[in-house]
Amino acid sequence: MKYLLIFLIFLATAVLGIYFFRDPAPKVFHADFVGSEVCGDCHWINYDAWKISPHHNIARLPEQGSVVGDFSSGSYFFPQQDPEFDEPAAKMYERGGEFFMAIQDIGGESYSEFKINKVIGYQYRQTYLTQEKGGVLRRLPIQWSVPRQAFFAYWNEQEQSPQSVHDLWEQMKPLNSAWNLYCARCHTTNLQENYKNNTHTIAQVEWTEIGVGCEVCHGPGSEHVNYMNGHPVNRLVSWFDQNLFNKTAPFIINAANQEQGFALSVCARCHGADIFRKRQPLYRNYKPGFNANGELNDLSPYFDEAPLVPGRKHPTVEVWPDGRPKGLGTLFRSFADSSHYQVTDMRCYTCHDPHNNKKAAATGLLRPTVQSNAFCLGCHEVIAENLSAHTNHKAGRPGAYCYDCHMPKNILNAVAGVTHFVRSHNMGSIPNPLLSKKLGIENSPNACHECHQDKTQEWAIEKLKSWGMDGHLIDTDLHLQRNAKSDILHPIN
Ligand code: HEC
Ligand code: HEC
Ligand code: HEC
Ligand code: HEC
Ligand code: HEC
Ligand code: HEC
Ligand code: HEC
Ligand code: HEC
Repeated sequence: MKYLLIFLIFLATAVLGIYFFRDPAPKVFHADFVGSEVCGDCHWINYDAWKISPHHNIARLPEQGSVVGDFSSGSYFFPQQDPEFDEPAAKMYERGGEFFMAIQDIGGESYSEFKINKVIGYQYRQTYLTQEKGGVLRRLPIQWSVPRQAFFAYWNEQEQSPQSVHDLWEQMKPLNSAWNLYCARCHTTNLQENYKNNTHTIAQVEWTEIGVGCEVCHGPGSEHVNYMNGHPVNRLVSWFDQNLFNKTAPFIINAANQEQGFALSVCARCHGADIFRKRQPLYRNYKPGFNANGELNDLSPYFDEAPLVPGRKHPTVEVWPDGRPKGLGTLFRSFADSSHYQVTDMRCYTCHDPHNNKKAAATGLLRPTVQSNAFCLGCHEVIAENLSAHTNHKAGRPGAYCYDCHMPKNILNAVAGVTHFVRSHNMGSIPNPLLSKKLGIENSPNACHECHQDKTQEWAIEKLKSWGMDGHLIDTDLHLQRNAKSDILHPIN
């Protein structure tokens, strides 16, 4: 008994000793980027999940496994060309393990060959980059559409402009086809704009890791690694701090331990393209963590700054004529406008796994399922009490899940050369067939019509009335104005 007591006292002293002998960790510090491989040494579970994720694989070197376009005998013809008689506008091929795209020269039969140095994307579309002499990585004008399984002139289709060899060459000149200047900020880690002598050449934009690495979301990690690596006491104590006392680990940022505005800034920096030009520098140079004054870098004051004017040209074109977010660049905005941002503590990674970003944070959460209903009903208990009275659809069938009506597919993802709508992230979007009737379904879609395409708007209006669920059938200008912000501004009864 006595020995046990002595042993326990010894143990307690040792633990306390260790606890107080760890190195101190100030909040304000300067760290550098070390790269995801280094993080993987200790955090191998998150590393393995991330390694197979689109975030990691978005930008790769051209290899058998990364090139999804047809480079065996690929070619691209303009719509006005006849493949039987004409020479293709572009040819794609492989030679000695390297990949090439050859674009027809203006006015001639000859071609100019470009070596592919990087491939971007693989899920919906693949973009090919070639390295120019000055160091600029140039986006080649012909890209691969995964759903079509064919090459296409991405920009011409986006702009609905006539296609010609001359135009393809024009697309090789502007700044917005220079990957360094335009794209890298959302597709790489640690963007550095080293404008020397104020020359602003695009080649001077650099990064240390291609793709979305660990430090994009957790901030530069050199100090964290120095603190942990080779310091077992620090490591042990940090582990106890985290797992027993729910404390933060030194010199690294975990969004989960921070306020919602900051936690969302981490994702908004790339998924919230809906920002004013004047805020671009802030978004471009964003680093998760504390600034020199010890305050967290927070973009939330700017989340909903740009008014959703129908037909808006900048920063992203697509806003529905009823004022709701439409373009993929406004997916984040649809969330920032929602009461689930304004009233609850919901975050992107509440539903999405941040490490393997293709996966749900919990099984079944990203699909209309029993689990996803349970997630919504966890807060909306009143509806849970009599579910079928609210949904008016047979339980377990389409139309009976919260996502079906409140996260309608009205965000346009046109990146792959096919029209594809993804779910609005305003979880409080409410079907309003009356407004669809007034503006036309093509200008103001609603969830009922997504599934009941053979029915008229009048039909849906009547059904909602007969269910006593017509509280949101409003088509006055006031409604339009309010809808431009969010459905929550209507009185909820
Ligand atoms: C504001 C940030 C931002 C900028 C700037 C940006 N992208 Fe993206 N890009 C994204 C995001 C976010 C996605 C994923 C969208 C989704 O799936 O919802 C994406 C997706 C893609 C995809 C499809 C990936 C796949 O697997 O199918 C390609 C290709 C792509 N971007 C290329 C480019 C190119 C080329 C540029 C420059 C001309 C560019 N991006 C500029 C944020 C950006
Ligand atoms: C797209 C942003 C993003 C990227 C990239 C990312 N993380 Fe995370 N990470 C998060 C978020 C958000 C959380 C909090 C998740 C939660 O608690 O639900 C987190 C949590 C963590 C945690 C603490 C909780 C846990 O799961 O152990 C560790 C450790 C971690 N990440 C390491 C990494 C490493 C290592 C990498 C790179 C291989 C990485 N992260 C890449 C966003 C990211
Ligand atoms: C030498 C080992 C080691 C390396 C390398 C390392 N970490 Fe950690 N990290 C730890 C330990 C130990 C903890 C605390 C216990 C835990 O969460 O597992 C921790 C905690 C974290 C947390 C949780 C922070 C919190 O407050 O909740 C994140 C996020 C994280 N590390 C990210 C990274 C990133 C990103 C890198 C690469 C830049 C990295 N780590 C490299 C050992 C390491
Ligand atoms: C540095 C820019 C960047 C940051 C920061 C970022 N993402 Fe992404 N995200 C991308 C790009 C680029 C893609 C496209 C990958 C692809 O499709 O190949 C993407 C894809 C995704 C996808 C999958 C889309 C699809 O259609 O497959 C989800 C979900 C996602 N991100 C969630 C998040 C969350 C949650 C956060 C914050 C914790 C976050 N992202 C932070 C750039 C970023
Ligand atoms: C309530 C859960 C929930 C939250 C919170 C959430 N999402 Fe989603 N997200 C979804 C669902 C559901 C889908 C559709 C998945 C599908 O159809 O496979 C989706 C799809 C996406 C996609 C893919 C779009 C595409 O091109 O197919 C991206 C990107 C995305 N979310 C980003 C975000 C970001 C950024 C945030 C934070 C602002 C966020 N999500 C918050 C549920 C959520
Ligand atoms: C078939 C379509 C449909 C489905 C499925 C559906 N809702 Fe609704 N919901 C509506 C309509 C329509 C309204 C507006 C009712 C009104 O204004 O009278 C509404 C209103 C609401 C409101 C606001 C209630 C109020 O106080 O006025 C909440 C909260 C809500 N729904 C949550 C949910 C949840 C949670 C689920 C999943 C269990 C769900 N809904 C499934 C159509 C649907
Ligand atoms: C963390 C709790 C929480 C979760 C989870 C949640 N909600 Fe809500 N929801 C709220 C709160 C709080 C409000 C706002 C009430 C207010 O403004 O008075 C709200 C409002 C709504 C409204 C009314 C319109 C609006 O935007 O205010 C609808 C519809 C709704 N939620 C649907 C959903 C759906 C669908 C899901 C699942 C994808 C969901 N909610 C998940 C808490 C939650
Ligand atoms: C995700 C798809 C989906 C959505 C969204 C949806 N429904 Fe349905 N609805 C169905 C299906 C499928 C049926 C057929 C019954 C079944 O197979 O379970 C149905 C049946 C019905 C019926 C009964 C059959 C009939 O034709 O008279 C009515 C009425 C109805 N829906 C009205 C609506 C209204 C109004 C809305 C919008 C508030 C709506 N639905 C939204 C899928 C949907």
